[in-house]
Parts: sequence; C-alpha cells; structure tokens
Amino acid sequence: MLIKNALIENCETPKDIRIEDGVFKEIGELKERPDEEVLDLKDRLVLPPFVESHVHLDTCLTAGDPVWNMSGTLFEGIECWSKRKEKLSREDIRERVNKVVRMYAANGVQFIRTHVDTTDPSLMAMKAMIELREELKDFMEIQIVAFPQEGILSYPNGKQLMIDAVKMGADAVGAIPHFEFTREYSVESLNFALKLAADENKLVDVHCDEIDDEASRGLETVATRALEFGLYDKVTASHTTAMHSYNNAYVLRLMRLLKMSRINFVANPLVNTHLQGRIDTYPKRRGITRVKELLDEGINVSFGHDDIFDPWYPMGNGSLRDVVFLGLHVSQMMGYEQIMDSYKLISHNGAKTLHVSDRYGIEINKPASFIVLDAKNYYEALVKDAKVLYSYRNGRKIAENTPAAEKVLF
Ligand code: FE2
Repeated sequence: MLIKNALIENCETPKDIRIEDGVFKEIGELKERPDEEVLDLKDRLVLPPFVESHVHLDTCLTAGDPVWNMSGTLFEGIECWSKRKEKLSREDIRERVNKVVRMYAANGVQFIRTHVDTTDPSLMAMKAMIELREELKDFMEIQIVAFPQEGILSYPNGKQLMIDAVKMGADAVGAIPHFEFTREYSVESLNFALKLAADENKLVDVHCDEIDDEASRGLETVATRALEFGLYDKVTASHTTAMHSYNNAYVLRLMRLLKMSRINFVANPLVNTHLQGRIDTYPKRRGITRVKELLDEGINVSFGHDDIFDPWYPMGNGSLRDVVFLGLHVSQMMGYEQIMDSYKLISHNGAKTLHVSDRYGIEINKPASFIVLDAKNYYEALVKDAKVLYSYRNGRKIAENTPAAEKVLF
C-alpha cells in the first residue's frame, strides 16, 4: 500500500509512505507500482497513534450509578465507586470496556494504560480486564496496572491482593500513598509496591500525591526507590498534584532526585482541574503538577484522560485532544513551539512511559501504525478540533471518520 502526500509529524514537505506486510517499508518520494493500493492524503497530518497513558477502564461509564458525586471531590468519588462496586459483574465490565475502547479507537488511540482496582476480594475487574486485553489486542494494546484504590496497608488483605493481581498477569504495580491511613503506611506501601515490581520484573505506576496537601511527599519515596532498585524509567508517578503546592526550595532539591531517578510523570488536566482545589476558597489552586518545569528539566511527562464519565469525572469522550487543549492552558504552555509539539504529550511521551517505543513511531521496519488528522499540522488540528480521518494499525485500517460538512449561510 502507498500513502501519498503525508505531512509526517508537522513536517512542511509532503512525503510518501510504502507499507508492506504490516510494516513501514519506505518513506520519501515514491512512485506508485502497478496494482498498488494508493491513499492520497493531499497534504494532511500523519502522526504515530495516540497513547492514553492513564485511565481507569473498569470505572468508565458509571457516573450517577447508583449515586452522583455531589461534592466533586476525589474522596466522595471513592465512596461512590465503593457503592458501584457492589453490583460489579464480569458482563458489566466487559460491556463498558468494549464501548470505551471503541470510543478511544475512533479518536486515534491505539495504546492504553489502564489502572484496575485490586481492592476487591474477588479481583473480578482484574480478571475481566486480562481477558479483554487478549481479545482486543489486534486493535488496542492495553497495559494493566494493579491499582489498590482503597490502599495497600489500609485495606484488608491489601498486600496479598496486589501479589495475586500481579501473578494473575498485571503489567504494572500501582500504589496510592496519599490515601493510606498514615505516613508510615504510605511509605511502607511504596516500599512494598516497588519491591514487588523489581522482584516480578514489572513496571510501576503510582497514583502519587493526588491531593492538595503540600505535606504529601510520596513522590520523593517513589523516586528514591526507583533509583535504589534500579527500576528507573520503568517507574511512573501519576498525578503528583501536591507538587503544585510544594514550596519552591523543596522543589529545587527534589528536581535533582527526579532527574537522577529518570521516572516518568503523567498529568491528567481534565480530571485534576475538576477534583483539586475543592477545599480552597480563593485563590483556588489549578490542581495540576509542574508540567512545564518538569519538561524543561528533560523529564518525561505525558497527559492522560484518567476518567471517562465515572464517579470522579462526569464527562469525557475518549478524545485526547481535549486533554491536551486544557492541559496547555492550565500549564501555561501556549508558546508556538509548545503548541506545535503538544501532540508528543499524547504520543511519543506516552509511548516512553508505557515502554512500547520499540514498536512505536513512523520509522522504517516498525509496525505500520499511524493516524491521519484533517489538518496540516497539530496546531491547526488543536484549534479546529480536527477529526482523526483514519487510524491504521499494523497496516490495517481500524477506524475512520468523515468530517462534518459545515455550511454558513451568509
Ligand atoms: Fe487515576
């Protein structure tokens, strides 16, 4: 197959791409072969597929069932979910996840890291997600984090449930230090989680300091253990919203450790601007970690959706464009280059976090997975909320969209 006139990753000169046996074979100025299937993109943007680096697929599409989160806080969200968990079934999870994965696919996403709640003695969601990971693998690469929503030490049998989830086939170990009963539990939970990952050769993704408490300092423990156990960039700190409130002298000291540890960060702009700052009067904190400062220090940061229509976030549609759009605003990253490059926050940077870079990117001999947007570059795509026209995975079309025809009658 020959793809003609592709503007690859904001490049101003169009190129052609030849795909054979599901991989990129040639990129350049190419001549059509007899009987070759040709797709002329007429100077449209081609990007590697989008990467959702942080979501909770097991909770998606449950907002208001059985109760709405009236305060809009993280903690009421956890209470609402606790009630919803009582009627969780394998079929219910399968139906919702199948729906959400297709919403993502329509928006050009081909990789998803999902956190799956392990604070359930039956580990039902974990079992269902492991099945779905296998069933959907030709269309979506799903990575599963064993996520202890109600704590590791603060939940009955929490440690054993985490071990069971990992043995069952989770790809990564999670933790939630800011939800544990005490600071001692918080530190112990991180020691446990990172040791488990090191022993079992797993990745790590911690819900870290997702709170407006400037004294919440799980991050320094995560980074230190990542360094000491030699896990480095296999470790990710998600949210880190408390970092927004840390004093600058402490951040300066912390930054050295963060760079040495080489850990990744995931910020979730939609959800955290909604959940954080809830106990502030005015001024009200924005509730997002120091994205710009981390990137400036060469630290890997990606953006995630976190929640789609669930007890923590009553909106969401699987489009990472909205995540980037809001994230750029609240992180004050609206310089020309920052806007142009912002697709990396939901593509290359996410791929690095998920450790899938070996099979990711528009390069010769890599799997022919890419998306086409109805724009010339990502700046234009963001501004006009451009549709993902095509999503190809291993050379096979898995989703397409037709742009809406707009008529202004004056
Ligand atoms: Fe999360």
